[in-house]
Parts: sequence; structure tokens; C-alpha cells
Amino acid sequence: EAIEKEGFACFMEKEIFEQPESIARTLSGRLDLEYATGKLGGLNMTSRELLAVKRIKIVAAGTSWHAGLVGAYLIETLARIPASAELSSELRYRNSVVEPDTIYFAVTQSGETADTLYAMRELKRKGARVLGICNVVGSTIARESDGGVYTHAGPEIAVASTKAFTSQLAVFYVFALLMARMRDMSVSAGQRFVKELQGIPEKVREVLKQRDHIQALAKKYYKARDFLFLGRGLEYPVALEGALKLKEISYIHAEGYSAGEIKHGPIALVNEETPSVFLVPRDYLREKVISNMKEIKARKGPIIALCTEGDAEVAAIADDIIPVPAVDELFYPFILIIPLQLFAYFCALELGRDVDQPRNLAKSVTVE
Ligand code: G6P
Repeated sequence: EAIEKEGFACFMEKEIFEQPESIARTLSGRLDLEYATGKLGGLNMTSRELLAVKRIKIVAAGTSWHAGLVGAYLIETLARIPASAELSSELRYRNSVVEPDTIYFAVTQSGETADTLYAMRELKRKGARVLGICNVVGSTIARESDGGVYTHAGPEIAVASTKAFTSQLAVFYVFALLMARMRDMSVSAGQRFVKELQGIPEKVREVLKQRDHIQALAKKYYKARDFLFLGRGLEYPVALEGALKLKEISYIHAEGYSAGEIKHGPIALVNEETPSVFLVPRDYLREKVISNMKEIKARKGPIIALCTEGDAEVAAIADDIIPVPAVDELFYPFILIIPLQLFAYFCALELGRDVDQPRNLAKSVTVE
């Protein structure tokens, strides 16, 4: 075990720091700069079949569902195909409508999650084409799917998923590019997208350098009883994932919410003792999120803001900031989840939790 952890205190820490390499592995061989598109042979679908797709539905559980939410947003934005993500435990018992021009993705690190597997079987029984996005090669979902994509994140040992998540994101970015380039996206826009995606591992490496700063913030805040994680647009699922990480390994209560929705409930929780973690990069929703930050500040809630480097306006409102490098606005999920993983990890360390084996949780939930 000591060797496998490669000098890190636990597997989760190792897996967080491995992400520049694991994301690069996911992308390897799947981007074509000349044609500015993605290559995903494992989908087992011809261009003509892909062109006929009218709807995309994603089913998954836990962290994989959060990746699916980002994926759906991205596909719809870029490829102009209606897309949505649903929990497999819900879809499984819902009499959902399957239409012939819809494709489904079952997203799963382990490939063995019972709810996702049974949701997939139910969909297939109705005649759906279900593709897998799996990490574990040869897993049940990978075997039973009609095709799909392996994430190649490498073995993930810690119960709380980190590198599998960013690799699932990477697959969705490649797929969205592929679909977009068959429809709306120009060659030059596609080339910019490819270059940006290829640059993500380096940006993630830069964010990881903030380790000590994030540890210091964890030491400052870990005694809080409740946290809010807030973001909008593509950053909303990232907020959900940040809250999930904190819950899973530190047992601190955390809620992920759309920053636009706080006025409908969560703001009632805000006081001097309830920190809010804001995802507020330089994107088209930044101004809106800044007004949401001000609403929290007016109620004396402490604010930790994850913002783009050099954003003095956000820095002036927040109590603490975690600055991240600038990327194209569609790519912030990769960059913003990293500090949240580290924050959860360092809070759990402060609290003396068993980071790799949190109580009551399993890496792969093969029962209902
Ligand atoms: C469990 C794990 C989570 C994971 C979820 C879905 O709850 O603890 O980390 O996100 O299952 O697992 P899957 O293998 O389907 O991605």
C-alpha cells in the first residue's frame, strides 16, 4: 500500500494530485486538431447515426451524476441537442418514454452500480440505445452497453471519487465537440476548443499548487457545522459535487445549490457561522453570482470565493478567495472542482476522519 500511495498520505490525496495525468490519458488519441473534432470509436455509431440523434439522456448516481449534469449542459449549449441527466435510482422506477432518436449514456466509475445497471437494463428492454461511460474495463455496465467510452482515469481506490469525475467530464467535452462539429460549430471554433481542452491538464497542475493555501483555509473553516456551495450554469453541478465531497469525507453538513435559488430557502440558514463557498469565475453569469454574494454578505455570512485570478471585485466582497487561472468560460468545471476536492480533503484531515474509507459509504454500491 505504501508504494501505491507514492508518498501521499492516502489514496484520495494521490488521486487528486494525479489529475493532470489522468485527464490527459482520457483525452489521449481522442482529439483531432486538423478536423477540429473528437474521435470516439467505441460509441459504435456511424456519423449518419450520430447526425440522426435528436435527444441525449444521461443516467448515473452520485459523482457520476454530477458529471452527467455538466455533460448535458455542455452538449445542449454546443451541439444544440436537447440533453438532460437523471438519477438512475429515479429513472429505474419511472415509466419513462424511450424514443428511437434518443441516445442514453450510463455514466459510472465502477460500472457496477446496481441502480445504474438496472436503469440501463430497463431502457434496453424498451429498445433504447445505451452507451456506457465507464472507468473499470470489462465491468458489467461496460459489457452490457451498446458501446461507449472508457475514461482511462486508472484505478480509483478512495471511496470519494475525484479523478474519475474529471475524466468523465473530459469524455463529455470530447463528445460535445464531436456532436457540435457535425452541426453548428465551425472549424476555427472547433480548433480553439481542441486547444483549450488539450491545455486543461496544465491548468489543473497550476491549481494544485494552491495546496497550502487551501489547507490554511480548511484550518480556518473546518469547525463550521454547515456549508453552502453555490454556483450557476456549468458551475451549479460543480457546487453540488463540492458539497458532496465535503459531506462524504468530513461529515460536515453541506448543501450544493444554484446561487440563483438561495432566495427560495437556503438564505434562511445564513448567519456568521455558516460559510458559503461561491464559484464565481469570469463567465457570462459572473455579475449575477456577484449579486448573490452580496445577498449573503448582507446577512453576515462568511464567503470563500473561487474566482479567476485578478478579479479584484470578487476579492473585495469575499472573506477569502481561491484564485484560479483563466480558461475559456466553458472549461471552468475542470478548474474549479480541484480546490473543492482539496478543501474537503483538508477539512477531513483536520477532523481526523478516515479519508479513504468514510463511514457508511462504499466505493461501489452493488445493492439497491
Ligand atoms: C458510490 C461512490 C461514489 C460514486 C457513486 C456512483 O456512492 O461512493 O463515489 O460516485 O457510488 O458510482 P459509480 O461507480 O456508478 O460512478
